Amino acid sequence: MSLLIRNLSQIATPVGRTGLRGRDMRSLRTIENGVIVIDRDRFAFAGIESEMPEPIRSSINEDLDAGGATALPGFVDSHTHIPFAGHRESEFNRRLQGETYEEIAASGGGIASTVRSTREASEDLLVQNVLARVALMARYGTTTAEAKSGYGLSRPGELKQLRAIRRAMQESPVRLVPTCLAAHEFPPESRGSEAAREEWISTIIGEILPEVAEDRLAVFCDAFVERGVFTTDQGARVLRAGMALGLTPRLHADEFSDTGGAALAAGLGAASADHLMRVSDEGIRALASSETVANLLPGTSFFLMSDRYAPARALIDAGAIVSLSTDCNPGSSMNESMQVVVQLATFQMRMTVEESITAATLNGAHSLRMAGDTGSIEAGKKADLILLDAPGYLHLVYHFGVNLVKGVFRDGQRVVA
Ligand code: NIG
Ligand code: FE
Repeated sequence: MSLLIRNLSQIATPVGRTGLRGRDMRSLRTIENGVIVIDRDRFAFAGIESEMPEPIRSSINEDLDAGGATALPGFVDSHTHIPFAGHRESEFNRRLQGETYEEIAASGGGIASTVRSTREASEDLLVQNVLARVALMARYGTTTAEAKSGYGLSRPGELKQLRAIRRAMQESPVRLVPTCLAAHEFPPESRGSEAAREEWISTIIGEILPEVAEDRLAVFCDAFVERGVFTTDQGARVLRAGMALGLTPRLHADEFSDTGGAALAAGLGAASADHLMRVSDEGIRALASSETVANLLPGTSFFLMSDRYAPARALIDAGAIVSLSTDCNPGSSMNESMQVVVQLATFQMRMTVEESITAATLNGAHSLRMAGDTGSIEAGKKADLILLDAPGYLHLVYHFGVNLVKGVFRDGQRVVA
């Protein structure tokens, strides 16, 4: 019982079951005028129809004319903050008048303002908000997304966000992977003194992470190590506590200042070090010689109107495993589209289109520890696939700013018609 997808102009995919580095990020496998066979939830075949093994051919009972589309693996968005309530559109004008993201945050805007609205929101509302965002993500080609808490900043608030992700998963077209980011900020009530700040860290380590691990509400834990937020030492303590409970670390690292975040992430064996706009040469070397994925979020630089982008070329050329994500959140990147991210990676960070596609699929899957199962179109992997209204993969960047996705499959099911 399988589905044949035919009349494809091109199939373009990275190849492998692990993240790719350096020049390997450029080697996409491309098949012109090929076909894809999906057997239940997995790919059975991708190639030239005449080379299809007979048992696969005889299992086909359904067929889809792709109308000349280009098939790519579904995008893997490995860094999002989607369980939030409220918006921050007014911060735009403040930035245009010269205030920085950090100044807006220091004056009670920024993360703290989303914490207020997310604390007030019911769990049901957060579920609805997540479902609205994943519906958009799917329409733009994402089939797997990580989703972080971090706007509750209290034990009930963080657990409410993580439960909302879990509930949304039942109906979501996008496969969701949850991360506990209780160490996103210090809650407003813990900012008064060093002792109060320490108390929040104790709450994360002693109460929130144990409960999250016990209820399996997250796979990963994360921290925002940044000047004015968590110090490198505080971030390390939180992530080590998470690791002891079985939560794999990821890290918001070197976004606005170089605090040695990349080296910390690599040293801990974190799944990813994210942002990296200010990563040092030493940080680049640390990532290049590690398994920690350098996760770049160019939508954030764009949205914050910064001319500072992460040094993607230096990271790739040094041999780091580079991935790309939206960072979808209400303050620094209100965007669900991995197509936009791939375009910014090429236009602003000088990644080649091939590198950008590898980064947005297989390498993102690697950072979510799922590269054995998704991130490329290969027999045996989950059938997570997008159909682009384009004659070849270069159009993904060439034909920018529009939605080229005209069909999406996840786990072999058509989730976008
Ligand atoms: O990844 N850098 C910290 N966290 C988010 C922004 C969160 C917010 O502004 O609400 C980020 O950019
Ligand atoms: Fe983030």
